[in-house]
Amino acid sequence: MASRDQDSRRIVALREALAHHNYCYYVLDAPEVPDAEYDRLFHELQLLEERHPALVTPDSPTQRVGAEPLKAFGEVVHGIPMLSLANAFDEGGVKDFHRRACERLGVEHIDYSCETKLDGLAVSLLYEDGVLVRGATRGDGRSGEDVTQNVRTIDSIPLRLLGKDMPRVLEVRGEVFISHDGFARLNQAQLTEGGKQFANPRNAAAGSLRQLDPRITATRPLEIYIYGVGVVEGNDLPDTYSAMLERLRGWGLRTSPETRVARDAEGCLAYYRDIMARRDKLPYEIDGVVYKVNRLDQQDALGAVSRAPRWALAHKFPAQEEMTLLKGIEVQVGRTGALTPVARLQPVFVGGVTVTNATLHNQDEVERKDVRIGDTVIVRRAGDVIPEVVSVVMSKRPNRTRRFKMPERCPVCDSKVERPEGESAARCTGGLYCAAQRREAIKHFASRRAMDIEGLGDKLVDQLDEQGMLTDLSDLYRLKVNDIAGLERMGEKSAQNLIDALKKSQTTTLARFLYALGIRDVGETTAQSLANYFGNLETLMQAKEEALQEVPDVGPVVAGNVYTFFRESHNRQVIRKLIKYGMSWPEVVVDRDKPQPLSGKTFVLTGTLGTMTRDEAKAKLQALGAKVTGSVSAKTSYVVVGEDPGSKATKAEQLGVKILDEKAFLKLLSKK
Ligand code: IVH
Repeated sequence: MASRDQDSRRIVALREALAHHNYCYYVLDAPEVPDAEYDRLFHELQLLEERHPALVTPDSPTQRVGAEPLKAFGEVVHGIPMLSLANAFDEGGVKDFHRRACERLGVEHIDYSCETKLDGLAVSLLYEDGVLVRGATRGDGRSGEDVTQNVRTIDSIPLRLLGKDMPRVLEVRGEVFISHDGFARLNQAQLTEGGKQFANPRNAAAGSLRQLDPRITATRPLEIYIYGVGVVEGNDLPDTYSAMLERLRGWGLRTSPETRVARDAEGCLAYYRDIMARRDKLPYEIDGVVYKVNRLDQQDALGAVSRAPRWALAHKFPAQEEMTLLKGIEVQVGRTGALTPVARLQPVFVGGVTVTNATLHNQDEVERKDVRIGDTVIVRRAGDVIPEVVSVVMSKRPNRTRRFKMPERCPVCDSKVERPEGESAARCTGGLYCAAQRREAIKHFASRRAMDIEGLGDKLVDQLDEQGMLTDLSDLYRLKVNDIAGLERMGEKSAQNLIDALKKSQTTTLARFLYALGIRDVGETTAQSLANYFGNLETLMQAKEEALQEVPDVGPVVAGNVYTFFRESHNRQVIRKLIKYGMSWPEVVVDRDKPQPLSGKTFVLTGTLGTMTRDEAKAKLQALGAKVTGSVSAKTSYVVVGEDPGSKATKAEQLGVKILDEKAFLKLLSKK
């Protein structure tokens, strides 16, 4: 038998050989030995390590099989936040981005590194002295989950970097994903083992990486491409992004083979068209391409706004469309009674999910598109918006089709259906007698921006209604623990939590309450204007249509809706009961003669402010006459950006809307 020393040397040699073959296979895509040889070396290493357990190190390739399961993931705070990307959806967006970058840098040309935008999830890998010591998910960009055990199981992630001259601390970032093949194999395996099917490669990758049991992760076909660095200490990197990627590749990190340097917007667009044409031939899903300013000093000079750098842009592919069979058309009843025709489809994979229903909007749309039951249709799912039927493939129309006709009676409550002149929507006249409308109204009432009743989700509302416990909104506040505890998936504890949440929701503001009532066309902004103008509910309820039209932003239609709502005796009764059971709000101070220095200006708030809540900021702005809305458009005057802002900041940047940070915002308030 060989001596311990000999074994120890052989172990080191085997690990080096295996790391080298891994590199050839995953990074260079050019294996030097057949798989069988790799397996033989691997097996030999396993045997030696079994003989000398003390010689096992975490960076040994045998350790990829997965460690013991964890109870929960630890938190990793990113040393440098993991930013997101601004988006462009067309050539104009790319040209604007390039023009702005040129202006900011005072140059006429810019070289970009172009790469594919993989559809997986972003991770950070930390190497210290060349050894992988930590892996983390992006999380919210500021902090993510510690998935070290799991990233170790991914074959294309080196446990130890190759070569010598690497920084002492090197944090790299990249996308973990699953290829089309891997995805198909995984779902096939899930099928035979009775596991759940994954909807798309992205979900499969996320689900696999965020497994508490690394042994499960080890069986999943996860891959990685590295596309950037985070914290680097102890060594300088090259001065262009593309050279940096080359350097990372030299250390054994896998980078995308589709990366190219291109000049100006024109070069980027040529790259886009090339990738677009080859998109379906790539072995993995991509949802666009990414352009990054290649010179790192120029990246620094451009900096970042809110969550996205000014030196990078994601150019997204257009919405995905697919063809499928329309098997039937059903009618759905919404909160306001509007009837929506919904297409029942032969399930089809589009935009990353399996779609079985798609909206047809209304009768006019059905006729305009001449959609009939039995037709083959094109379904579109763009981003996260609800899927819709775009058009009919006429060449595939069978001899016999059936036309759709809006029913004359509500399919839920059998009340008469009406379609007021000039309106596109047909409506059920059943009001809250209609179970569909009642349930939708309660769901809206409970929702986060309305009464914010935590724990009262859609399913629970349906259950409570089925049990006949909710004849109207106010019944919510008469629920007892016993009423709830017996329901499906509800115990004593969750029942008590719901009761507590209901209680908490009763302390509110007049604006929230008005919004929660679900008066047609009264969104948050209008509700706020009504509250500010009238100050209390009594006066508002008594107001005539003319008086209502005095309120900023309230036109004849909304005034009519508000007026009719409060004339309805059932509504007045529900409101009385809600107040009787404890609904209350502080009085609003009304001062209609106050100057309105911000009138005509529209603000959007995003992210967390340090000195006040978003609602307080909103109230301050409204008091100065400004309008505060939820989405950014070209008409927005300012976007106020706090910490961890959402996509709104990115959108503002794209549209060239003025962005105020908290300091600038406070200054603006104090000057008024
Ligand atoms: S760079 C500072 N490059 O897209 C820039 N991201 O929408 C940070 N992604 O969170 C990201 N492919 O998960 C970059 N080649 C690529 C990418 C990429 C996919 C993902 C990544 C990021 C998201 C932003």
